[in-house]
Amino acid sequence: MIRLDKFLGEAGLASRRELKALLKAGAVTLNGRPVADGAVKIDPERDAVCFRGAPVEGPRRLVLLLHKPAGYVCSTEDPRDRTVMELIPERYRRQGVAPVGRLDKDTEGLLLLTNDGALAHRLISPKYRVEKCYYARHAGTAGEADAAAFAQGLVLRDGTRCRPALLRPLGPGESEITVTEGKYHQVRRMMAARGMPVDYLRRDREGSLSLAGLEKGALRELRPEEIAALREEAGEK
Ligand code: URA
Repeated sequence: MIRLDKFLGEAGLASRRELKALLKAGAVTLNGRPVADGAVKIDPERDAVCFRGAPVEGPRRLVLLLHKPAGYVCSTEDPRDRTVMELIPERYRRQGVAPVGRLDKDTEGLLLLTNDGALAHRLISPKYRVEKCYYARHAGTAGEADAAAFAQGLVLRDGTRCRPALLRPLGPGESEITVTEGKYHQVRRMMAARGMPVDYLRRDREGSLSLAGLEKGALRELRPEEIAALREEAGEK
């Protein structure tokens, strides 16, 4: 069960304030009867909600790709810091999108946001092994021994064991790292465990998606075929 105003808001019909007026004006019917009270609880599977005579579908499944700049935290609210939600236009926020997993405040790069909770769970879960690929600038220079340690499954300084990962040295102080899980500060901690603390980190790829063509701070909706590919990569039939 969900509040009628929340259901209408997530369907992207209007802002909360506009909805109040529309409800009052009798623009919304519930099972054929005008309803003015947005607090009424409905069952979206059983109840028929119409707006100006047309059936209202549940929220459209939406996936956004954001090029996250540094300085924003990946939560929907925060008492101190700016959140990535400030970079998301109101019309998407109304549809209930939230970040898929977290990038650190100082990490830049590819961040997905969606209102599809099941898909978000699969993308984050190590079980489905969706690849996340990072570019790191760090102290020292990575070599074969570091790559071998990553491939074996690194043990972090606190004893946490990581899944096998790919470390590709790009040159002095630069590497590409591909992981299939998302432990707290994972890449920074993996690199620190090899004596190469990271001073800049950017996620360039998640599954088949890349940042290509997207300026820092910009976002775009994924196309249906991109969402379908992502679902497949995350093990959805
Ligand atoms: N690993 C990290 O250490 N930080 C991130 O933001 C993402 C992966």
